[in-house]
Order: sequence, then C-alpha cells, then structure tokens
Amino acid sequence: MKKRGFFVTLEGGEGAGKSTNLAFVRQWLQQAGHSVLVTREPGGTALGERVRELLLHRHELDIAPETETLLMFAARAEHLTRIIRPALAQGKTVLCDRFTDATYAYQGGGRGVAPERIALLETWVQGDLRPDLTLLLDVPVEVGLARAGNRGLPDRFERENGEFFARVRQAYLDLARRAPERIRVIDAGQSREQVEQRIAATLHEVVHGR
Ligand code: TMP
Repeated sequence: MKKRGFFVTLEGGEGAGKSTNLAFVRQWLQQAGHSVLVTREPGGTALGERVRELLLHRHELDIAPETETLLMFAARAEHLTRIIRPALAQGKTVLCDRFTDATYAYQGGGRGVAPERIALLETWVQGDLRPDLTLLLDVPVEVGLARAGNRGLPDRFERENGEFFARVRQAYLDLARRAPERIRVIDAGQSREQVEQRIAATLHEVVHGR
C-alpha cells in the first residue's frame, strides 16, 4: 500500500500573510519533489465553496455560533470525503489553507462555542485524521488588522472587533502550546525574508524527519 501523503495546514489571524506564505510553502514542497494539492477551508468543493459564500459574504444572515460551527464541519466532511482523503491515499501532499484549528480559534475562542463540542465534531468528521504539520502565522492583533485593513470589503469575520481577534489569537496560541510537535508558531511580524526562512527551516525539519 502506498504511504499516506503529507498533510500540511496553514493558519493565522487576519493580516498574518497567509496568501503570500501559502505560495511559498507550495513552491518549497514542489521543489522538494512533492506532488502538491492546494485547497482551502471553508471551501475546496462545490458545496464547500457555497457554504463559504454563505458564511463569509451573506451579511444579511444572522448565523448562530452553533450553526456556524456545524456549517464549517459540513463543508469539512465534504472536503475530506471528496478531496483530502483521496489525495492523501494517492500519496499526494495536501496543503490546506485553514482547517479545524480555525474552528477552535474562531468559533471556539472568537464566538465562545465550547471546545468539547468542537472536539466531538472533529472526531465524528475526521476520525483520527489530523494534519501532520500546521504552520501558525502569528502577529499581534493590531499589526494584523492594520495590514488587513488595506484590502477590499470586509467579510463577516473581518467585520469583528479587536477583542474578537484577540480571543482568536489566544485560542490559536493555546492550541499550539498543547500540540507543539504539530503546530509550529511562525512569528509573522518579521520581514518577509525572515518569515520565509523560518518556514523553510520548519519544513526541512519536519519533512526530512518523517
Ligand atoms: P480566509 O481563508 O480568507 O482567511 O477566510 C476564511 C475565514 O473563515 C476566516 O475569517 C476564518 C474563518 N473560518 C472560521 O471561522 N472557522 C473555520 O473553521 C475556518 C476553516 C475558517
């Protein structure tokens, strides 16, 4: 049987530089000989992208935190079944822009949904599948919001206030403290070159240590 592919996720608050660094990670992995599938959450499938549209851009909808959590996991179930698990089974490397840590951070930390409830859904939808590596791009909230503020119209999450994002950041850092082997915190407040160097060093260590 083919060895399961490598599963990498990228996380971070608003304005942490996820898009730029996603491109860097993809390139690094490809140069290291991986066949890389890049995808994102919420999204990654036809249904998931529709759920994303509802969750991010339907400002007229008042969505309860529990509903938001369930919709994230509904999109995730579809994504895992149709895209992620088949790709990993073929030995591909899957690079996913956000995954379940975002649910713990945003719905858990941000919206106050109990982490035990999220954990139940995680087990139900994922079984024992977890990312092999999560790169958490961390910046102070003010720095991130100032960077993100230069972009276009804010989505449903970007409209939240600084306190919400402080809780999101804290939840991410708590997750990293509890799973330091999997979740590597990258100080994304540094220069682009420094961030790339840290990411490259982390990828090198984890990929070659496999
Ligand atoms: P982004 O991928 O462009 O950052 O936008 C996705 C937004 O969705 C982001 O604000 C974080 C949010 N999100 C959650 O709240 N929970 C989740 O489980 C995921 C995957 C994303």
